[in-house]
Amino acid sequence: MSLPSHVTIVEVGPRDGLQNEKQAVDTAVKVELIHRLQAAGLKEIEATSFVSPKWVPQMADNAAVMAGITRQSGVRYSVLTPNLKGWEAAAVTRPDEIVVFGAASEAFSQKNINCSIAESIERFAPVVDAARAAGVKVRGAISCAVGCPYEGEIAPERVALVARLMAQIGVQHVGVADTIGVGTPLKVQRALEAALQHYPLHEVSGHFHDTYGMALANVHASLQLGIRTFDTSVSGLGGCPYAKGATGNVATEDVVYLLHGLGIDTGIDLDALIDAGQFIRGALGQPNGSRVARALLARRAA
Ligand code: HMG
Ligand code: MG
Repeated sequence: MSLPSHVTIVEVGPRDGLQNEKQAVDTAVKVELIHRLQAAGLKEIEATSFVSPKWVPQMADNAAVMAGITRQSGVRYSVLTPNLKGWEAAAVTRPDEIVVFGAASEAFSQKNINCSIAESIERFAPVVDAARAAGVKVRGAISCAVGCPYEGEIAPERVALVARLMAQIGVQHVGVADTIGVGTPLKVQRALEAALQHYPLHEVSGHFHDTYGMALANVHASLQLGIRTFDTSVSGLGGCPYAKGATGNVATEDVVYLLHGLGIDTGIDLDALIDAGQFIRGALGQPNGSRVARALLARRAA
């Protein structure tokens, strides 16, 4: 299959990137990050999550983040909603899209959202109905789609099962997530193909954490299947608090560099994106996790 001419990047840094951060991050910093990301050309931004503040304290300011954003036309803001309580709190903040997040692994489902896969689908169903009735698009995340920190390797059939269940309750798009970054290209392709049994190409995305340094290879392998939407995190921020040892998502800068190098349009200004990454890493007092950002910053300095 020929490569797509345009790829959509869903920037998940403000949510997946910051949810794992132990130090307090001011709401104003999160909002400024989102403003810089939209100024850099990101059209899809996962802004925050409406989860229990006891489970993920860093996302407790969800409503304040949503209220603080000066929305740019053409940009879609999404939030995570694990249950009806999360949807009700999210709905008043007018997200364009919500994300219900399940898993292909029973053990991870229990650790992350405190219920079985079957129970999660039961919980998601009324959330999906309410969101769609309100005209809000629903994405589903399938965590641990290739490997699980508790169960080890995950068979593609598990991904197909969760994709089927999500399709049955009306979830409109699924993200195949390598939560702990253990995937390699062929395994990732098998997981994506499993989701593609139940969703069309344009409604399946890749969400790759970069723990083992395989994420860019996995993006390229996904492109070869025709996948044209990827979740990425500016400067490689992030990780999941319930997936020990997992590092951040693949860096947005690195994916943009790869895509532009392949002649694929993203609509993103790489220099402005690098500045956004430097802004948030500066606020956190951390080095930039994007190799492309580090290389281009060194060139700027020279
Ligand atoms: P639970 O304890 O089973 O929930 O948690 P519960 O219904 O029994 O309620 C317990 C308490 O939580 C109650 O409060 C509820 O009101 C409250 P209390 O009466 O004790 O004061 N509560 C809530 N508060 C705020 N917002 C809510 C909410 N729901 C209940 N929505 C629950 C179940 C799902 C809430 C919990 O397990 C949870 O919040 N988990 C979220 C974990 C999380 O955010 N993980 C990271 C995001 S997923 C991810 O990163 C993976 C992804 O990137 C893809 C990938 O890489 O794999 C998407
Ligand atoms: Mg993730």
